[in-house]
Amino acid sequence: MTSPLFQPLKLPNGAIIRNRLAKAAMEENMADHNHAPGTKLWRLYEAWNKGGAGLIITGNVMIDAKAMTGPGGVVLQDDSQIDKFVRWANGAKGADTQVWVQLNHPGRQVYAAMGQQAIGPSAVAVDIPGFSKMFAKPRAMTVAEIQDVIQRFVRSAKLAQQAGFTGVEIHAAHGYLLSQFLSPITNKRTDEWGGSLPNRARLLVEVVNQVRAAVEPGFCVGVKLNSADFQRGGFDAEDAGQVVGLLNHLGVDLVELSGGSYEAPAMQGQTRDGSTLKREAYFLEFAQHIAKTASMPLMITGGIRRRAVAEQVISSGIAMAGMATALALDPGLPERWRQGLDAQASLPAVRWKNKTLSAAATMSLTKLQLDLVSEDKPPRPHASPLCSFVGGQIHTHLLTRQYRRWIASQHTT
Ligand SMILES: Cc1cc2nc3c(=O)[nH]c(=O)nc-3n(C[C@H](O)[C@H](O)[C@H](O)COP(=O)(O)O)c2cc1C
Repeated sequence: MTSPLFQPLKLPNGAIIRNRLAKAAMEENMADHNHAPGTKLWRLYEAWNKGGAGLIITGNVMIDAKAMTGPGGVVLQDDSQIDKFVRWANGAKGADTQVWVQLNHPGRQVYAAMGQQAIGPSAVAVDIPGFSKMFAKPRAMTVAEIQDVIQRFVRSAKLAQQAGFTGVEIHAAHGYLLSQFLSPITNKRTDEWGGSLPNRARLLVEVVNQVRAAVEPGFCVGVKLNSADFQRGGFDAEDAGQVVGLLNHLGVDLVELSGGSYEAPAMQGQTRDGSTLKREAYFLEFAQHIAKTASMPLMITGGIRRRAVAEQVISSGIAMAGMATALALDPGLPERWRQGLDAQASLPAVRWKNKTLSAAATMSLTKLQLDLVSEDKPPRPHASPLCSFVGGQIHTHLLTRQYRRWIASQHTT
């Protein structure tokens, strides 16, 4: 019998994903000096193309050069470097892979060292004990700024289509701008963009509606959504169900469920509200609950490293299994599973006392694997977390200086 993982999936817009395995978004911090995709990113995505995942979602791409999730990030706000995006899309697509650009605005989750004014729904700063000073202090957005963000999502989605990508994923998870609007912790607005859930979801709904209207019907539009913030008083599972209900009517092709934010990194399996997640496929139970009301296919990402777990996800009625870490370690895992092999790929857990530092070290270790793949070198899952962390910090510092010089030389509006 063929594995459920290798049954094609037809999306609401008629597009086909050839199997149920997705490479989830991972910010690579590998853009060239002009914040466009270059040799490193082209090679990395060619490796993922060969690896066999039916859907490849890029690391988050910024819709505004002045609002970056980190240094070394890709920016897609005009067509001045479109040829580099065309090359990126072509290498990742190969013959028949779906490749979607993840579009993002960080809102308040911006490092102070980047030197830019952070904005968000309200002036609520990131609060991570011992680390809050690392983040820029946000100010509340004006309605004109909200409208500008909507137009930027639309412009970037059209540019992604022009470059030859087959879709976009709008990032409304992990505590970035759209997720900040959804969460009562960060959205204290009293106008039509805050308060009730439909008001908090208004920005996401507007972005999805206007992006859908601006792109071709066959171009896919996905959304990455938190199943919950996993913080007391935050966006919860019931809210997530209601948001999916709103998205049901908007022509969304896929909803990817994740969870958490910088303050509560549930996407890495950690919560801050006392709730526990499954040890593998963290968000499966949430997704099964949401699937009862969702009219579009769902995908879950988080904690999937073994074939049996991916099969369990698909057999339970979830359409797609997303993997990030596992495909950083072994881009060829989907192809091996297709050949019937039982390979798996996981990183040893970093168990430092400080959970924030552990999470950061895990990110550095994963980014090291991305670097190795882009250079066609074998993975190093057992590299020292401390050395990766320190090396990552130095690299980030250098990239940040480079970004500050670059943005000062730009005349972006
Ligand atoms: C290095 C790294 C970078 C990430 N960057 C992004 C990103 O740009 N956008 C996003 O939605 N998620 C991002 N994530 C989260 C992953 O997409 C995923 O939700 C999370 O790692 C859990 O999946 P996993 O257990 O398969 O790694 C990142 C994760 C890692 C490890």
